[in-house]
Amino acid sequence: MSIVIFDSGFGGLTVLRESRVLMPAQRYIYVADDAGFPYGDWEEDALKERMLGLFGKIIDRLHPEQIVIACNTASTLAIDALREKFPNLMFVGTVPAIKPAAERTRSGLVSVLATPGTVKRQYTRDLIREYAAKCHVRMVGSKDLAELAENYLRDGFVDEARVEAEIAPCFVEKDGRRTDIIVLACTHYPFLVNRMRKMAPWPVDWIDTSEAIARRAVSLLPHSATQLRDDKPDIAILTSGNPDFPTERLLTGFGLVPAKSGLN
Ligand code: DGL
Repeated sequence: MSIVIFDSGFGGLTVLRESRVLMPAQRYIYVADDAGFPYGDWEEDALKERMLGLFGKIIDRLHPEQIVIACNTASTLAIDALREKFPNLMFVGTVPAIKPAAERTRSGLVSVLATPGTVKRQYTRDLIREYAAKCHVRMVGSKDLAELAENYLRDGFVDEARVEAEIAPCFVEKDGRRTDIIVLACTHYPFLVNRMRKMAPWPVDWIDTSEAIARRAVSLLPHSATQLRDDKPDIAILTSGNPDFPTERLLTGFGLVPAKSGLN
């Protein structure tokens, strides 16, 4: 039995990392739709259709016990449609942590840093209306941060000036108050959080949901499933079917064996 952790790229590795801590006995299959990356700019209907097709293949070929969609851009668009289409499968979604941010803020100024797709979703707007109506929520859609995080993961380098420019709109001053919480609503961003902290004009709390997602995943599994481990290795499947050398090195570093072919 296995858990599939899915993302458009390698941001979901933040969730894999936390999942291994909480569920070390599980076998993990990491699936990255790198052929479709980045998801942030996709037109909604086309992306939803792509995801329904892709998840059909994932379920047929891999027979997972659970699928963790470690991607806000994908979850906010398609989690309901996926649950409807595959009612017997256990899905764990990832959505912007607006509720905990609204509970924790002192200044009442909260920013949500996400891909352009997540920012424009009805799902995200509904979360704000439901949980953060009393806060001033600034939505910041970043075109480049997910890609900067991928480059950083693969090459170990990030242009800090670009990170600074991308996060700058998150910092709001209003009536003598300042933003005190920034929600990292893309699973790629925790990889850059130290750089963000360094480039921030004032200190804030950065909310990273990866541990909460892993906790949710473990809470849904039957106790027996968290104790068993088959002896197959954890693997990574890329939809491009074609990892280059830095990608192979990255996946191997996360204890994943890169599969030789994609899902097609
Ligand atoms: N990691 C994804 C998320 O959590 C998005 C990255 C992308 O495809 O742009 O939203």
